[in-house]
Amino acid sequence: MRKNIVAGNWKMNTTFQEAEELIADILEKLETAENQCEVVVCPPSVYLELASDYANDYDNLLSIGAQNVSEHEKGAYTGEIAASMLASMNMQYCIVGHSERRKYFNESNEQLALKVERLLENAIRPIFCCGEQLDEREADQHFKVVETQIKEALFHFSADEFSNLVIAYEPVWAIGTGKTATAAQAQEMHAFIRRIIAEKYGDKTAGDTTILYGGSCNAGNAKELFANPDVDGGLIGGASLKANDFVAIANSF
Ligand code: 13P
Repeated sequence: MRKNIVAGNWKMNTTFQEAEELIADILEKLETAENQCEVVVCPPSVYLELASDYANDYDNLLSIGAQNVSEHEKGAYTGEIAASMLASMNMQYCIVGHSERRKYFNESNEQLALKVERLLENAIRPIFCCGEQLDEREADQHFKVVETQIKEALFHFSADEFSNLVIAYEPVWAIGTGKTATAAQAQEMHAFIRRIIAEKYGDKTAGDTTILYGGSCNAGNAKELFANPDVDGGLIGGASLKANDFVAIANSF
């Protein structure tokens, strides 16, 4: 059985004090929430220890993830963070290949493949992002684009390795724009992703893979999105910075 997950991607937001308030607020609200999913928060890397300490105090109601990782194991890569470092701080998840990293830091599918490898070596679950740009959807290329991203970065892994992955479909035109994919568009792409995973790894692996939707998902539209059979939760940007909204999304199954 696959797991439903709601993950918050804080991106490059919050001061230390704001991060502490937000994490405490989320945990307090989760204590009384009846969410039917695993809840993950991915704060900026400098606050990972803070978030992890808080989560420990609350009996791990919350899993913590990083937003990025180096493709290198260790060494002279100033400013980078290794998967082994994240593992030594008990991080459970790490976002890989977010469209902002592909766009502003030129991350390629080959580089993302290495990042996923480093994470799997360190028993951290990658949340692998894929998704098309607006012009690609308008040109009816969206299935091809997503298929290529997934195949090039992930399909050299064994079924065993692949079973540790979470996929996040984030159409770039829906990120931070307030323009959510319709429930039908999300379901159509998620079903397509599950089908290509089934063709490569078989129905069991495909059926067990958690596929999240991301892009202007909020407390108002989460229920409709999550009601789709192939949408197993969300990767939430803006709305994850407000505890009320984020926990309401986690309660949307
Ligand atoms: P928004 O929810 O702000 O659109 O961001 C989505 C996202 O990029 C999550 O990774």
